Amino acid sequence: MPAKRSRSIASQASAGRLLSCDGLVKSYGDGPPALGGVSFVMEAPQFTVLLGSSGSGKTTLLRAIAGLVPLDQGEIHVTGVALTRANLKTVRRRLGMVHQEFGLTDRLTAAQNVLAGAAPDLSWSRLLFQAYPTPLRQRACSLLAEVGLTEIQANRKARELSGGQRQRVGIARALIGQPQLFLADEPVANLDPQTASGILALLREAVTVHGVGVLCSLHQTDLACQYADRIIGLQGGRLVFDGPPADLSPAATAALFAGAGAAAVPTSTAA
Ligand SMILES: Nc1ncnc2c1ncn2[C@@H]1O[C@H](COP(=O)(O)OP(=O)(O)O)[C@@H](O)[C@H]1O
Ligand SMILES: [Mg+2]
Repeated sequence: MPAKRSRSIASQASAGRLLSCDGLVKSYGDGPPALGGVSFVMEAPQFTVLLGSSGSGKTTLLRAIAGLVPLDQGEIHVTGVALTRANLKTVRRRLGMVHQEFGLTDRLTAAQNVLAGAAPDLSWSRLLFQAYPTPLRQRACSLLAEVGLTEIQANRKARELSGGQRQRVGIARALIGQPQLFLADEPVANLDPQTASGILALLREAVTVHGVGVLCSLHQTDLACQYADRIIGLQGGRLVFDGPPADLSPAATAALFAGAGAAAVPTSTAA
């Protein structure tokens, strides 16, 4: 089948879907592929966890969906829009990014960081003079309250906040752009287990309260089973499990982490 025709069929199939990944292949240099033909679809907003050991391809997959890693093969559609160079801005506006290192600007306050999340929708002069429209400021305040920050904390510089508070700001900042899909790469890797649970609960609320789909990479099986609607297991760049947490048997978990070392099945307390 000619390439053009197969592309249009993939586009038709992805219409109305939140995310569609079709045959994604990515190699860095001569090594084994980081992604060896990954395909899956997210039909509607849900909390999907990408679960796998270090090196299984989670970050590469999330970065590819954000248009930050060029693929060797495959197609990605976000809300039916093909991820191409020409569509990159459109696709990115539908995505909210939540980072392991929180991705905040340290010298700005928590509130200013949240407002910066709306930058793609503001003119350069508004950004230059930090002349944010009043409704946007109000929305930033209500999002900061929603993620659990007090007024005093909202006015603190990001560098003065704890890791958990910084990630809460990161979630508020991602929400202000009103995305349809969150991409969260190990958002709790730098947090203690209790704080991690609070952050994952907030990401769940992004689904239930804001209707945002979440695709979140984790390496802790217990957290994945506790918070995910669906788990996609990656091993060596291949999709080896796809189902609800209840279907992830101890044998399937062990197989997913086979070859990952002696502490084969990481948990949040052992991470
Ligand atoms: N920039 C890069 N250059 C070369 N190899 C890379 C690069 N990024 C990732 N890799 C390799 O790709 C594979 C998948 O990595 P990654 O996507 O970071 O997995 P994970 O996030 O699950 O730890 C690993 O073998 C890793 O070493
Ligand atoms: Mg990673």
